[in-house]
Amino acid sequence: MKNLESLIEEKLKKAGVSYRLIPLPENLAIDIASHVAFHKIKMEQAMAAILYQTEKGIIAAVKRADTQIDVEKLKKLSGVKSLKFASERDLAALGVETGLVPYLGLEIPYFVDVRVLEIGQAYGTGGSKTLGMAMDPHDMVKVNHGKTGDFTYFEKSKEMLASGRRRLLSGITPSGDGTLHIGNYLGAVRQFVKLAKTHQCFLMVADMHALTTVQDRETLKKNTETLILNELALLGDLQNITFFRQSDVPMHTELTWILNNVTPLGLLKRAHAYKDKLAKDTSLDEINLGLFNYPILMASDILLYKPDLVPVGKDQKQHIEMTRDIAERFNKTFKKSVFPLPEPYIPEEVAVVLGTDGKRKMSKSLGNIISIFEDEMVIKKQVMSTYTDPMRIHPTDPGHIEGNMVFVYLDFFGEKKRVEELKKLYKEGKVADVEVKNYLFESLMKHFAPARESYKELMNDPGLVKKILRDGAEKAREVASETMMEVREAVGLTNRYSFFGYSQK
Ligand code: TYM
Repeated sequence: MKNLESLIEEKLKKAGVSYRLIPLPENLAIDIASHVAFHKIKMEQAMAAILYQTEKGIIAAVKRADTQIDVEKLKKLSGVKSLKFASERDLAALGVETGLVPYLGLEIPYFVDVRVLEIGQAYGTGGSKTLGMAMDPHDMVKVNHGKTGDFTYFEKSKEMLASGRRRLLSGITPSGDGTLHIGNYLGAVRQFVKLAKTHQCFLMVADMHALTTVQDRETLKKNTETLILNELALLGDLQNITFFRQSDVPMHTELTWILNNVTPLGLLKRAHAYKDKLAKDTSLDEINLGLFNYPILMASDILLYKPDLVPVGKDQKQHIEMTRDIAERFNKTFKKSVFPLPEPYIPEEVAVVLGTDGKRKMSKSLGNIISIFEDEMVIKKQVMSTYTDPMRIHPTDPGHIEGNMVFVYLDFFGEKKRVEELKKLYKEGKVADVEVKNYLFESLMKHFAPARESYKELMNDPGLVKKILRDGAEKAREVASETMMEVREAVGLTNRYSFFGYSQK
Protein backbone atom coordinates (compact mmCIF):
# COMPACT_ATOMS: atom_id res chain seq x y z
CA MET A 1 0.00 0.00 0.00
CA LYS A 2 1.27 3.45 -0.86
CA ASN A 3 1.92 5.63 2.11
CA LEU A 4 -0.79 8.05 3.08
CA GLU A 5 1.23 11.16 2.38
CA SER A 6 1.78 10.34 -1.25
CA LEU A 7 -1.83 9.24 -1.62
CA ILE A 8 -2.98 12.61 -0.35
CA GLU A 9 -0.65 14.47 -2.68
CA GLU A 10 -1.81 12.42 -5.60
CA LYS A 11 -5.44 13.27 -4.87
CA LEU A 12 -4.71 16.95 -4.49
CA LYS A 13 -2.74 17.12 -7.72
CA LYS A 14 -5.47 15.31 -9.59
CA ALA A 15 -8.07 17.72 -8.31
CA GLY A 16 -5.85 20.64 -9.42
CA VAL A 17 -6.24 22.58 -6.21
CA SER A 18 -3.61 24.58 -4.43
CA TYR A 19 -2.26 23.55 -1.07
CA ARG A 20 0.82 23.98 1.03
CA LEU A 21 2.84 21.22 2.64
CA ILE A 22 4.57 22.37 5.78
CA PRO A 23 7.42 20.31 7.19
CA LEU A 24 7.02 19.96 10.95
CA PRO A 25 9.89 19.91 13.42
CA GLU A 26 10.77 16.47 14.67
CA ASN A 27 9.98 17.02 18.30
CA LEU A 28 6.58 18.75 17.83
CA ALA A 29 3.97 17.29 20.19
CA ILE A 30 0.84 15.99 18.47
CA ASP A 31 -1.71 18.02 20.43
CA ILE A 32 -3.52 20.82 18.62
CA ALA A 33 -2.24 23.62 20.85
CA SER A 34 1.35 22.79 19.91
CA HIS A 35 0.51 22.84 16.22
CA VAL A 36 -1.37 26.10 16.55
CA ALA A 37 1.64 27.64 18.26
CA PHE A 38 4.03 26.28 15.65
CA HIS A 39 2.03 27.58 12.68
CA LYS A 40 1.39 30.89 14.49
CA ILE A 41 -2.31 30.63 13.73
CA LYS A 42 -5.52 30.97 15.71
CA MET A 43 -7.28 27.96 17.18
CA GLU A 44 -10.13 28.42 14.76
CA GLN A 45 -7.83 27.91 11.78
CA ALA A 46 -6.79 24.47 12.95
CA MET A 47 -8.74 21.50 11.64
CA ALA A 48 -9.30 18.27 13.46
CA ALA A 49 -10.55 15.11 11.82
CA ILE A 50 -12.18 12.59 14.08
CA LEU A 51 -12.91 9.04 13.02
CA TYR A 52 -16.05 7.31 14.16
CA GLN A 53 -17.07 3.71 13.92
CA THR A 54 -20.69 3.39 12.76
CA GLU A 55 -22.95 0.54 11.73
CA LYS A 56 -22.10 1.51 8.14
CA GLY A 57 -18.34 1.52 8.69
CA ILE A 58 -15.82 4.22 9.55
CA ILE A 59 -16.56 7.86 8.83
CA ALA A 60 -14.54 11.04 9.36
CA ALA A 61 -15.89 14.24 10.87
CA VAL A 62 -13.89 17.41 10.21
CA LYS A 63 -14.32 20.29 12.63
CA ARG A 64 -12.61 23.48 13.63
CA ALA A 65 -10.41 23.07 16.67
CA ASP A 66 -12.38 25.67 18.62
CA THR A 67 -15.68 23.80 18.32
CA GLN A 68 -17.19 20.63 19.75
CA ILE A 69 -19.09 17.94 17.90
CA ASP A 70 -22.80 17.55 18.54
CA VAL A 71 -23.10 13.79 18.14
CA GLU A 72 -26.84 13.78 17.50
CA LYS A 73 -26.50 16.29 14.70
CA LEU A 74 -23.65 14.35 13.17
CA LYS A 75 -25.71 11.16 13.26
CA LYS A 76 -28.48 12.92 11.43
CA LEU A 77 -26.17 14.31 8.76
CA SER A 78 -24.39 11.03 8.19
CA GLY A 79 -27.57 8.97 8.35
CA VAL A 80 -26.24 6.52 10.95
CA LYS A 81 -27.73 5.28 14.17
CA SER A 82 -24.65 4.44 16.18
CA LEU A 83 -21.56 6.57 16.49
CA LYS A 84 -18.53 5.59 18.55
CA PHE A 85 -14.97 6.82 18.46
CA ALA A 86 -12.94 4.55 16.20
CA SER A 87 -10.62 2.24 18.12
CA GLU A 88 -6.87 2.23 17.73
CA ARG A 89 -7.19 -0.93 15.73
CA ASP A 90 -9.63 0.77 13.36
CA LEU A 91 -7.17 3.61 12.93
CA ALA A 92 -4.28 1.26 12.32
CA ALA A 93 -6.29 -0.51 9.63
CA LEU A 94 -6.58 2.83 7.84
CA GLY A 95 -2.89 3.51 8.30
CA VAL A 96 -3.27 6.45 10.69
CA GLU A 97 -2.31 7.18 14.26
CA THR A 98 -4.41 8.72 17.03
CA GLY A 99 -4.05 12.49 16.96
CA LEU A 100 -2.78 12.43 13.40
CA VAL A 101 -5.90 11.78 11.41
CA PRO A 102 -5.56 13.68 8.13
CA TYR A 103 -8.48 15.82 7.10
CA LEU A 104 -8.44 14.32 3.66
CA GLY A 105 -7.09 11.35 1.78
CA LEU A 106 -8.75 8.35 3.44
CA GLU A 107 -11.12 6.22 1.44
CA ILE A 108 -14.07 6.80 3.77
CA PRO A 109 -17.00 9.23 3.86
CA TYR A 110 -16.00 12.69 5.09
CA PHE A 111 -18.40 15.05 6.87
CA VAL A 112 -17.30 18.64 7.22
CA ASP A 113 -18.81 21.13 9.61
CA VAL A 114 -19.95 24.40 8.02
CA ARG A 115 -17.81 26.49 10.36
CA VAL A 116 -14.75 25.04 8.71
CA LEU A 117 -15.73 26.79 5.49
CA GLU A 118 -15.71 30.17 7.16
CA ILE A 119 -11.96 30.43 7.33
CA GLY A 120 -9.60 31.27 4.51
CA GLN A 121 -6.75 28.84 5.16
CA ALA A 122 -7.33 25.65 7.10
CA TYR A 123 -4.35 24.01 8.79
CA GLY A 124 -4.18 20.36 9.66
CA THR A 125 -2.14 17.27 9.46
CA GLY A 126 -0.99 15.58 6.32
CA GLY A 127 -1.28 12.25 8.07
CA SER A 128 2.19 12.09 9.49
CA LYS A 129 4.21 13.55 12.32
CA THR A 130 6.44 15.37 9.87
CA LEU A 131 3.98 17.03 7.58
CA GLY A 132 1.41 19.77 8.09
CA MET A 133 -0.88 21.06 5.43
CA ALA A 134 -2.73 24.29 4.69
CA MET A 135 -5.41 24.82 2.09
CA ASP A 136 -8.70 26.46 1.27
CA PRO A 137 -11.31 24.40 3.11
CA HIS A 138 -13.62 24.51 0.08
CA ASP A 139 -10.96 22.65 -1.90
CA MET A 140 -10.63 20.15 0.90
CA VAL A 141 -14.34 19.39 0.72
CA LYS A 142 -14.09 19.06 -3.04
CA VAL A 143 -11.25 16.57 -2.87
CA ASN A 144 -12.92 14.57 -0.12
CA HIS A 145 -16.29 14.57 -1.86
CA GLY A 146 -17.25 15.63 1.64
CA LYS A 147 -20.74 16.38 2.80
CA THR A 148 -21.07 19.60 4.75
CA GLY A 149 -23.51 20.28 7.55
CA ASP A 150 -23.94 22.03 10.87
CA PHE A 151 -22.90 19.64 13.60
CA THR A 152 -20.65 21.57 15.96
CA TYR A 153 -21.12 24.10 18.70
CA PHE A 154 -18.81 26.43 20.53
CA GLU A 155 -17.69 25.07 23.78
CA LYS A 156 -19.17 27.26 26.47
CA SER A 157 -15.92 28.90 27.53
CA LYS A 158 -15.12 25.97 29.75
CA GLU A 159 -11.70 27.32 30.49
CA MET A 160 -13.35 30.45 31.78
CA LEU A 161 -15.86 28.58 33.89
CA ALA A 162 -13.09 26.40 35.19
CA SER A 163 -10.95 29.37 36.08
CA GLY A 164 -13.95 30.83 37.92
CA ARG A 165 -13.82 34.00 35.89
CA ARG A 166 -16.46 36.49 36.80
CA ARG A 167 -18.57 37.86 34.03
CA LEU A 168 -19.25 41.43 33.04
CA LEU A 169 -21.62 42.97 30.59
CA SER A 170 -21.86 46.45 29.20
CA GLY A 171 -23.13 48.35 26.21
CA ILE A 172 -22.82 51.56 24.26
CA THR A 173 -25.62 53.12 22.24
CA PRO A 174 -24.92 54.32 18.69
CA SER A 175 -26.74 57.60 19.22
CA GLY A 176 -25.19 60.98 18.44
CA ASP A 177 -23.10 60.06 15.42
CA GLY A 178 -21.66 56.82 16.79
CA THR A 179 -18.19 58.21 17.45
CA LEU A 180 -16.61 57.76 20.85
CA HIS A 181 -15.03 60.59 22.80
CA ILE A 182 -12.56 60.50 25.66
CA GLY A 183 -15.48 60.58 28.13
CA ASN A 184 -16.77 57.26 26.78
CA TYR A 185 -13.24 55.96 26.75
CA LEU A 186 -12.37 56.87 30.33
CA GLY A 187 -15.86 56.15 31.69
CA ALA A 188 -16.41 52.85 29.93
CA VAL A 189 -14.10 51.37 27.28
CA ARG A 190 -10.94 51.70 29.36
CA GLN A 191 -12.62 49.68 32.12
CA PHE A 192 -13.59 47.00 29.61
CA VAL A 193 -9.99 46.65 28.47
CA LYS A 194 -8.68 46.44 32.02
CA LEU A 195 -11.36 44.06 33.27
CA ALA A 196 -11.03 41.76 30.24
CA LYS A 197 -7.75 40.57 31.72
CA THR A 198 -9.61 38.93 34.58
CA HIS A 199 -13.22 38.73 33.45
CA GLN A 200 -15.30 37.16 30.80
CA CYS A 201 -16.71 40.19 28.97
CA PHE A 202 -19.90 40.60 26.99
CA LEU A 203 -19.92 43.94 25.18
CA MET A 204 -22.81 45.07 23.11
CA VAL A 205 -23.51 47.74 20.55
CA ALA A 206 -26.98 48.69 21.69
CA ASP A 207 -28.56 49.51 18.35
CA MET A 208 -32.09 48.71 19.51
CA HIS A 209 -31.67 51.37 22.19
CA ALA A 210 -30.67 53.90 19.56
CA LEU A 211 -34.05 53.47 17.86
CA THR A 212 -35.66 55.44 20.66
CA THR A 213 -34.05 58.59 19.28
CA VAL A 214 -32.51 57.77 15.90
CA GLN A 215 -35.36 57.24 13.48
CA ASP A 216 -33.74 57.56 10.11
CA ARG A 217 -32.51 54.43 8.36
CA GLU A 218 -29.30 55.83 6.90
CA THR A 219 -28.36 57.57 10.13
CA LEU A 220 -28.85 54.46 12.23
CA LYS A 221 -26.85 52.38 9.77
CA LYS A 222 -24.00 54.84 9.71
CA ASN A 223 -23.96 55.44 13.48
CA THR A 224 -23.87 51.74 14.21
CA GLU A 225 -21.07 51.09 11.73
CA THR A 226 -19.09 53.96 13.18
CA LEU A 227 -19.54 52.81 16.77
CA ILE A 228 -18.58 49.23 15.88
CA LEU A 229 -15.29 50.42 14.33
CA ASN A 230 -14.58 52.93 17.11
CA GLU A 231 -15.12 50.43 19.85
CA LEU A 232 -13.25 47.59 18.19
CA ALA A 233 -10.29 49.87 17.50
CA LEU A 234 -10.15 50.92 21.15
CA LEU A 235 -10.59 47.43 22.53
CA GLY A 236 -7.69 45.97 20.57
CA ASP A 237 -7.17 42.41 21.71
CA LEU A 238 -10.53 40.64 21.91
CA GLN A 239 -9.36 37.78 24.08
CA ASN A 240 -12.05 37.15 26.73
CA ILE A 241 -14.36 39.60 24.97
CA THR A 242 -17.57 38.66 23.23
CA PHE A 243 -18.40 41.67 21.10
CA PHE A 244 -21.84 41.70 19.55
CA ARG A 245 -24.67 43.79 18.24
CA GLN A 246 -27.84 43.81 20.32
CA SER A 247 -30.17 43.34 17.34
CA ASP A 248 -28.28 40.16 16.38
CA VAL A 249 -29.55 38.55 19.58
CA PRO A 250 -33.35 38.71 19.45
CA MET A 251 -33.71 37.32 22.97
CA HIS A 252 -33.17 40.88 24.27
CA THR A 253 -36.54 42.02 22.97
CA GLU A 254 -38.22 38.79 23.96
CA LEU A 255 -37.11 39.13 27.56
CA THR A 256 -38.18 42.78 27.50
CA TRP A 257 -41.76 41.70 26.93
CA ILE A 258 -41.66 39.30 29.82
CA LEU A 259 -40.05 41.83 32.16
CA ASN A 260 -42.65 44.44 31.12
CA ASN A 261 -45.10 42.39 33.10
CA VAL A 262 -43.27 42.60 36.40
CA THR A 263 -42.24 46.27 36.10
CA PRO A 264 -44.46 48.82 37.81
CA LEU A 265 -45.33 51.99 35.94
CA GLY A 266 -44.11 54.06 38.87
CA LEU A 267 -40.59 52.69 38.55
CA LEU A 268 -40.34 53.78 34.92
CA LYS A 269 -41.81 57.18 35.70
CA ARG A 270 -38.90 57.82 38.03
CA ALA A 271 -36.29 57.22 35.28
CA HIS A 272 -34.06 60.27 34.75
CA ALA A 273 -34.21 60.15 30.96
CA TYR A 274 -38.02 60.21 31.01
CA LYS A 275 -38.19 62.86 33.72
CA ASP A 276 -35.67 65.03 31.87
CA LYS A 277 -37.86 64.90 28.79
CA LEU A 278 -40.92 65.90 30.78
CA ALA A 279 -38.98 68.70 32.43
CA LYS A 280 -38.23 70.12 28.99
CA ASP A 281 -41.98 70.60 28.56
CA THR A 282 -42.20 67.82 26.03
CA SER A 283 -45.82 66.72 25.74
CA LEU A 284 -46.63 63.10 26.53
CA ASP A 285 -47.62 62.55 22.93
CA GLU A 286 -44.10 63.35 21.85
CA ILE A 287 -42.50 60.77 24.10
CA ASN A 288 -42.46 57.38 22.48
CA LEU A 289 -42.99 54.21 24.46
CA GLY A 290 -39.53 52.99 23.46
CA LEU A 291 -37.93 55.82 25.40
CA PHE A 292 -40.21 55.16 28.35
CA ASN A 293 -39.46 51.44 28.23
CA TYR A 294 -35.72 51.91 27.70
CA PRO A 295 -34.78 50.80 31.24
CA ILE A 296 -36.56 47.48 30.72
CA LEU A 297 -34.67 46.77 27.52
CA MET A 298 -31.49 47.61 29.37
CA ALA A 299 -32.48 45.30 32.22
CA SER A 300 -32.96 42.55 29.65
CA ASP A 301 -29.56 43.30 28.11
CA ILE A 302 -28.00 42.77 31.47
CA LEU A 303 -30.03 39.95 33.00
CA LEU A 304 -29.78 37.65 29.98
CA TYR A 305 -26.06 37.26 30.68
CA LYS A 306 -26.28 37.03 34.48
CA PRO A 307 -23.19 39.21 34.87
CA ASP A 308 -21.46 39.82 38.16
CA LEU A 309 -20.78 43.41 37.30
CA VAL A 310 -21.79 46.10 34.88
CA PRO A 311 -19.10 48.74 34.25
CA VAL A 312 -20.70 52.06 33.29
CA GLY A 313 -20.42 55.79 33.89
CA LYS A 314 -22.47 57.38 36.64
CA ASP A 315 -25.23 58.49 34.25
CA GLN A 316 -26.20 54.82 33.89
CA LYS A 317 -26.26 54.02 37.59
CA GLN A 318 -30.00 54.45 37.93
CA HIS A 319 -30.54 51.96 35.11
CA ILE A 320 -28.53 49.33 36.96
CA GLU A 321 -30.52 49.99 40.12
CA MET A 322 -33.74 49.58 38.16
CA THR A 323 -32.37 46.35 36.70
CA ARG A 324 -31.79 45.00 40.20
CA ASP A 325 -35.28 46.03 41.18
CA ILE A 326 -36.82 44.34 38.13
CA ALA A 327 -34.76 41.17 38.68
CA GLU A 328 -35.89 40.95 42.28
CA ARG A 329 -39.51 41.40 41.29
CA PHE A 330 -39.20 38.67 38.67
CA ASN A 331 -37.57 36.22 41.07
CA LYS A 332 -40.20 36.96 43.70
CA THR A 333 -43.20 36.83 41.39
CA PHE A 334 -42.21 33.50 39.86
CA LYS A 335 -40.71 32.10 43.05
CA LYS A 336 -37.46 31.18 41.39
CA SER A 337 -34.05 32.83 41.59
CA VAL A 338 -33.45 33.01 37.87
CA PHE A 339 -31.60 36.32 37.95
CA PRO A 340 -28.67 37.11 40.20
CA LEU A 341 -28.56 40.83 41.05
CA PRO A 342 -25.83 42.63 39.07
CA GLU A 343 -23.51 45.20 40.63
CA PRO A 344 -22.66 48.47 38.94
CA TYR A 345 -18.93 49.12 38.58
CA ILE A 346 -18.25 52.84 38.53
CA PRO A 347 -14.72 53.95 39.43
CA GLU A 348 -14.99 57.27 41.25
CA GLU A 349 -12.34 59.12 39.23
CA VAL A 350 -14.15 58.56 35.93
CA ALA A 351 -17.76 58.35 37.13
CA VAL A 352 -18.44 61.60 35.31
CA VAL A 353 -15.83 62.90 32.91
CA LEU A 354 -16.51 66.58 32.43
CA GLY A 355 -16.44 68.16 29.00
CA THR A 356 -14.06 70.79 27.64
CA ASP A 357 -16.40 73.47 29.10
CA GLY A 358 -15.45 72.18 32.56
CA LYS A 359 -19.09 72.35 33.65
CA ARG A 360 -21.15 69.51 32.25
CA LYS A 361 -20.67 65.83 31.53
CA MET A 362 -18.73 65.33 28.31
CA SER A 363 -21.34 64.59 25.72
CA LYS A 364 -21.58 64.90 21.97
CA SER A 365 -24.92 66.68 22.19
CA LEU A 366 -23.38 69.40 24.37
CA GLY A 367 -20.52 70.03 21.95
CA ASN A 368 -17.93 69.75 24.72
CA ILE A 369 -16.06 66.65 23.62
CA ILE A 370 -12.56 65.64 22.69
CA SER A 371 -12.77 63.14 19.88
CA ILE A 372 -10.56 60.11 19.40
CA PHE A 373 -10.82 59.25 15.72
CA GLU A 374 -11.39 62.66 14.13
CA ASP A 375 -8.80 64.45 12.00
CA GLU A 376 -5.87 65.78 14.01
CA MET A 377 -6.89 69.36 13.22
CA VAL A 378 -10.36 68.83 14.72
CA ILE A 379 -8.91 67.30 17.88
CA LYS A 380 -6.36 70.10 18.15
CA LYS A 381 -9.16 72.65 17.98
CA GLN A 382 -11.11 70.82 20.69
CA VAL A 383 -8.03 70.73 22.92
CA MET A 384 -7.28 74.39 22.32
CA SER A 385 -10.81 75.36 23.35
CA THR A 386 -10.58 73.46 26.63
CA TYR A 387 -11.44 75.35 29.80
CA THR A 388 -8.41 76.17 31.97
CA ASP A 389 -8.21 78.84 34.65
CA PRO A 390 -10.46 81.77 33.73
CA MET A 391 -8.71 84.09 36.20
CA ARG A 392 -5.39 83.71 34.48
CA ILE A 393 -4.80 86.39 31.86
CA HIS A 394 -1.04 86.22 31.21
CA PRO A 395 1.28 83.20 31.17
CA THR A 396 3.17 84.87 33.98
CA ASP A 397 0.09 84.87 36.27
CA PRO A 398 0.12 82.01 38.80
CA GLY A 399 -2.57 79.55 37.66
CA HIS A 400 -4.93 77.05 39.27
CA ILE A 401 -4.84 73.33 38.67
CA GLU A 402 -8.11 72.41 40.39
CA GLY A 403 -11.01 72.25 37.95
CA ASN A 404 -8.59 73.01 35.11
CA MET A 405 -9.73 70.54 32.48
CA VAL A 406 -6.41 70.41 30.65
CA PHE A 407 -4.77 69.06 33.79
CA VAL A 408 -7.74 66.79 34.53
CA TYR A 409 -7.21 65.12 31.14
CA LEU A 410 -3.43 65.19 31.48
CA ASP A 411 -3.71 63.16 34.67
CA PHE A 412 -5.03 60.34 32.49
CA PHE A 413 -3.04 60.77 29.33
CA GLY A 414 0.22 62.54 30.17
CA GLU A 415 3.44 61.14 31.55
CA LYS A 416 3.28 61.47 35.30
CA LYS A 417 6.65 63.14 35.72
CA ARG A 418 6.10 65.68 32.98
CA VAL A 419 2.58 66.45 34.22
CA GLU A 420 3.84 67.13 37.77
CA GLU A 421 6.51 69.40 36.32
CA LEU A 422 3.95 71.32 34.24
CA LYS A 423 1.61 71.64 37.23
CA LYS A 424 4.39 73.20 39.26
CA LEU A 425 5.36 75.61 36.48
CA TYR A 426 1.71 76.51 35.90
CA LYS A 427 1.16 77.37 39.54
CA GLU A 428 4.27 79.53 39.48
CA GLY A 429 3.19 81.33 36.32
CA LYS A 430 6.08 79.94 34.32
CA VAL A 431 4.30 78.16 31.51
CA ALA A 432 1.68 79.32 29.02
CA ASP A 433 -1.73 77.67 28.59
CA VAL A 434 -0.95 76.97 24.98
CA GLU A 435 2.15 75.02 25.91
CA VAL A 436 0.21 72.78 28.30
CA LYS A 437 -2.51 72.33 25.72
CA ASN A 438 0.04 71.37 23.11
CA TYR A 439 1.38 68.76 25.49
CA LEU A 440 -2.16 67.42 26.04
CA PHE A 441 -2.69 67.21 22.29
CA GLU A 442 0.60 65.33 21.80
CA SER A 443 -0.22 62.99 24.67
CA LEU A 444 -3.64 62.20 23.24
CA MET A 445 -2.17 61.53 19.81
CA LYS A 446 0.42 59.23 21.33
CA HIS A 447 -2.05 57.40 23.54
CA PHE A 448 -4.54 56.79 20.76
CA ALA A 449 -2.05 56.18 17.92
CA PRO A 450 -2.48 52.37 17.95
CA ALA A 451 -6.29 52.69 18.09
CA ARG A 452 -6.32 55.24 15.27
CA GLU A 453 -4.16 52.93 13.19
CA SER A 454 -6.32 49.94 13.95
CA TYR A 455 -9.43 51.96 13.05
CA LYS A 456 -8.06 52.44 9.53
CA GLU A 457 -7.24 48.76 9.22
CA LEU A 458 -10.69 47.70 10.38
CA MET A 459 -12.26 50.20 8.00
CA ASN A 460 -10.52 48.40 5.14
CA ASP A 461 -11.45 44.94 6.30
CA PRO A 462 -15.24 44.64 6.47
CA GLY A 463 -14.96 40.85 6.29
CA LEU A 464 -13.06 40.76 9.56
CA VAL A 465 -15.51 43.09 11.29
CA LYS A 466 -18.41 40.97 10.12
CA LYS A 467 -16.73 37.84 11.36
CA ILE A 468 -16.12 39.35 14.81
CA LEU A 469 -19.79 40.30 15.01
CA ARG A 470 -20.97 36.94 13.76
CA ASP A 471 -18.84 35.01 16.25
CA GLY A 472 -19.88 37.38 19.01
CA ALA A 473 -23.57 37.04 18.25
CA GLU A 474 -23.25 33.29 18.19
CA LYS A 475 -21.67 33.19 21.63
CA ALA A 476 -24.08 35.75 23.01
CA ARG A 477 -27.07 33.82 21.66
CA GLU A 478 -25.80 30.69 23.29
CA VAL A 479 -25.82 32.29 26.73
CA ALA A 480 -28.99 34.32 26.11
CA SER A 481 -30.97 31.33 24.88
CA GLU A 482 -30.02 29.31 27.92
CA THR A 483 -31.36 32.05 30.19
CA MET A 484 -34.49 32.39 28.06
CA MET A 485 -35.25 28.69 28.39
CA GLU A 486 -35.04 29.12 32.16
CA VAL A 487 -37.29 32.17 31.98
CA ARG A 488 -39.87 30.39 29.81
CA GLU A 489 -39.87 27.53 32.28
CA ALA A 490 -40.10 29.81 35.32
CA VAL A 491 -43.06 31.80 34.05
CA GLY A 492 -44.95 28.75 32.78
CA LEU A 493 -44.65 29.26 29.04
CA THR A 494 -43.47 25.68 28.72
CA ASN A 495 -45.84 22.80 29.27
CA ARG A 496 -46.19 19.22 28.20
CA TYR A 497 -46.89 20.16 24.58
CA SER A 498 -43.81 22.34 24.28
CA PHE A 499 -41.32 21.67 21.56
CA PHE A 500 -39.65 25.05 21.30
CA GLY A 501 -35.89 25.37 21.49
CA TYR A 502 -33.48 28.07 20.37
CA SER A 503 -31.17 26.91 17.67
CA GLN A 504 -27.95 28.62 16.74
CA LYS A 505 -28.82 28.99 13.10
P1 TYM B 1 -24.08 55.49 26.38
O1 TYM B 1 -24.00 54.98 25.00
O2 TYM B 1 -24.76 56.82 26.57
O3 TYM B 1 -22.63 55.60 27.01
C1 TYM B 1 -21.72 54.52 26.96
C2 TYM B 1 -20.92 54.44 28.23
O4 TYM B 1 -20.08 55.59 28.38
C3 TYM B 1 -20.32 56.18 29.64
N1 TYM B 1 -20.13 57.65 29.50
C4 TYM B 1 -19.43 58.39 30.35
N2 TYM B 1 -18.78 58.06 31.47
C5 TYM B 1 -18.17 59.06 32.14
N3 TYM B 1 -18.17 60.35 31.71
C6 TYM B 1 -18.80 60.71 30.57
N4 TYM B 1 -18.78 61.97 30.15
C7 TYM B 1 -19.48 59.71 29.83
N5 TYM B 1 -20.22 59.71 28.69
C8 TYM B 1 -20.60 58.44 28.51
C9 TYM B 1 -21.76 55.82 29.97
O5 TYM B 1 -22.04 55.90 31.35
C10 TYM B 1 -21.82 54.39 29.48
O6 TYM B 1 -21.26 53.50 30.41
N6 TYM B 1 -27.92 52.74 27.96
C11 TYM B 1 -26.49 52.75 27.78
C12 TYM B 1 -25.99 51.64 26.89
C13 TYM B 1 -26.44 50.28 27.31
C14 TYM B 1 -25.93 49.53 28.39
C15 TYM B 1 -26.66 48.30 28.39
C16 TYM B 1 -24.92 49.75 29.33
C17 TYM B 1 -27.42 49.55 26.71
N7 TYM B 1 -27.55 48.35 27.36
C18 TYM B 1 -26.41 47.32 29.34
C19 TYM B 1 -24.68 48.77 30.28
C20 TYM B 1 -25.43 47.58 30.29
C21 TYM B 1 -26.08 54.06 27.13
O7 TYM B 1 -26.86 54.65 26.42
O8 TYM B 1 -24.78 54.41 27.31
